[in-house]
Amino acid sequence: MKVLLVNGSPHIKGSTYIALTEVAKSLEAQGIETEIFQLGANAIAGCIGCHYCRTHDKQCVVDDIVNDFNTKTAATDGFIFGTPVHYAAASGALTSFMDRAFYSAGSLMANKPAATIVVCRRGGASAAFDQINKYYTINNMLIVGSNYWNSVHALNTEAIAKDEEGLQTMRTLGVNMAWILKCIEAGKRTGIPMPQRENKIATIFAR
Ligand SMILES: Cc1cc2nc3c(=O)[nH]c(=O)nc-3n(C[C@H](O)[C@H](O)[C@H](O)COP(=O)(O)O)c2cc1C
Repeated sequence: MKVLLVNGSPHIKGSTYIALTEVAKSLEAQGIETEIFQLGANAIAGCIGCHYCRTHDKQCVVDDIVNDFNTKTAATDGFIFGTPVHYAAASGALTSFMDRAFYSAGSLMANKPAATIVVCRRGGASAAFDQINKYYTINNMLIVGSNYWNSVHALNTEAIAKDEEGLQTMRTLGVNMAWILKCIEAGKRTGIPMPQRENKIATIFAR
C-alpha cells in the first residue's frame, strides 16, 4: 500500500517537508510505502474551467506537474496534502494544484483516505486546514485525523524540532492513516463491497 505526500511549499526542504517526513517515517514504520511529491517553486496555473479533462482521460489541458500527479493517483491508496500557511490559507500553488487535480482526476482519489497537514509560524493554521479538507469531503474521501488538528508551528526548519506536540501529531496521523489503509484492505479481502451510491443530483438555485 502506498501513500503520496504532496509538499505544497515552494521550499523543497522547508518546514512543510520536515512535517511531511515525520508522517512518512511513521507510515513506513507501519509497513506503508511513501513518496513525497514536490510542487517546488515554479508557478502552477489555476483551473480555467475548460472541461478538456472531461474528454481527455482525466488529463488537464495544462500539461504540467498536475498531470504527473494524476497519473500516479490510481496506484495510490492514500493522500496527504501539506502546505505552509500563507495569509491564513493554503499556499497559492497548492490551491491551484488541487483545484486542477481534483477537477480533472478526483474520481481516481474517491473512496480513499486523505489528510491535510499545515505549517505556520503563528496564525491561520485551522483556516488553511479547513480549506484543504473541503476537497476530500466533496469527493467521497475519508478524512484521517490525529490527536490534534494537524499543524506544526515553525518559522523555519531550525525551529520545527521545538514543536514536540506538532511533530507527535504528525506521527500519530501516520499511525492512523496506516491503520485505516489496513482496515480498507482487510474489508476488500473479506468481500465488503465498495459503496453503491446514487447518481449525483446537481441542482442550480435558479428558476
Ligand atoms: C507569503 C507568506 C505568507 C505567510 N503567511 C503566514 C500566516 O498567515 N501565518 C503564519 O503563521 N505564518 C505565515 N507565513 C510563515 C510560513 O507559514 C512559515 O514560515 C512556514 O514555516 C513556511 O514553511 P515552508 O518552509 O515549508 O515554506 C507566511 C509565509 C509566507 C512566505
